[in-house]
Amino acid sequence: MAKKDIDWSNIGFGYMKTDKRYVSNYKDGSWDEGTLTGDDTVVISECAAVLQYAQTIFEGLKAYTTVDGRVVCFRPDLNAERMEDSAKRLEMPTFPKDRFVDAVVKTVQANIDYVPPYGSGATLYLRPYMFGSDAVIGVKPATEYQFRLFCTPVGPYFKGGVKPITIRISDFDRAAPHGTGHIKAGLNYAMSLHAIVDAHNQGFDENMYLDAATRTKVEETGGANFLFVTKDNKIVTPKSDSILPSITRRSLMVVAKDYLGLEVEQREVLFEEVPEFVECGLCGTAAVISPVGCINDHGKEIKFANGCTEMGPVIKKLRDTLTGIQMGQIGAPDGWIKEIK
Ligand code: PLP
Ligand code: COI
Repeated sequence: MAKKDIDWSNIGFGYMKTDKRYVSNYKDGSWDEGTLTGDDTVVISECAAVLQYAQTIFEGLKAYTTVDGRVVCFRPDLNAERMEDSAKRLEMPTFPKDRFVDAVVKTVQANIDYVPPYGSGATLYLRPYMFGSDAVIGVKPATEYQFRLFCTPVGPYFKGGVKPITIRISDFDRAAPHGTGHIKAGLNYAMSLHAIVDAHNQGFDENMYLDAATRTKVEETGGANFLFVTKDNKIVTPKSDSILPSITRRSLMVVAKDYLGLEVEQREVLFEEVPEFVECGLCGTAAVISPVGCINDHGKEIKFANGCTEMGPVIKKLRDTLTGIQMGQIGAPDGWIKEIK
């Protein structure tokens, strides 16, 4: 088999149809055995729960080609666990963890020619998702569900790759206290669309959301958690019950501590202390670690002393170490790398 003829180094973060995707259906209280299919379309009732009441959840993870030519995924078990949490919160059946990881493996194997080569800057993005597929008209959970997993080669999430981005404080809230901010539900993203289009129209790359109750604490962006660096090189990341527990962020905290010997702190971060940090980054599967150079607070600019025009040194070290682990240049902690054979 030969790699697809794709200009790997120049692709953006977009959808490209690949050969196969995994599908499993839930009916009468159990999942079927699941299968790979070439059909990229979904046919469901016009009254499906996903279409009427947004009963849908998803995940995101990547497959990489390592320096020695292996294909690997990064911590798919944690995506499986988070999807179980998301399912429970939206009254959906859980998709078993071993089956989730098996679906990841099968889908990557079936699309192996789409896994971007080592050093191209691109990766294979995997999108598992699940939705209520049978008709509901009263507000209640579906009784039938579909789990699907497709993949698409992607480049950097933010145009310009690793150049620091400019974000603004959003006047729209992302997640309510005791709401659904901590799970990966499609509804969280639907309600962020107006805010992101508005941010782009105003010339900003992303939104920084503050906590909805007091508007004093840093939460996250529409698709990534925050990391800050203090002037004495401590890594600080916001703690909140209404942000998504990013797998990248959890991994970076280990990398910072165990690989780079940095102090790490997960705690509430007041927006008023942000100007004291010297570097800022967004972390997530899609974002990897994207440096933030400037935050615009209603016209008042906060520029990060060590990372305004170029990626700051600590964020760069974190990024290089994490991507080194993912690409097989640096040894990984036990269980972080799932090889696809
Ligand atoms: N926060 C939000 C709202 C996200 O959508 C994502 C992406 O998955 C993240 C954070 C980062 O999470 P992870 O590192 O698990 O991809
Ligand atoms: C991811 O990082 O995988 C996400 O799901 C974020 C999304 C904004 C693309």
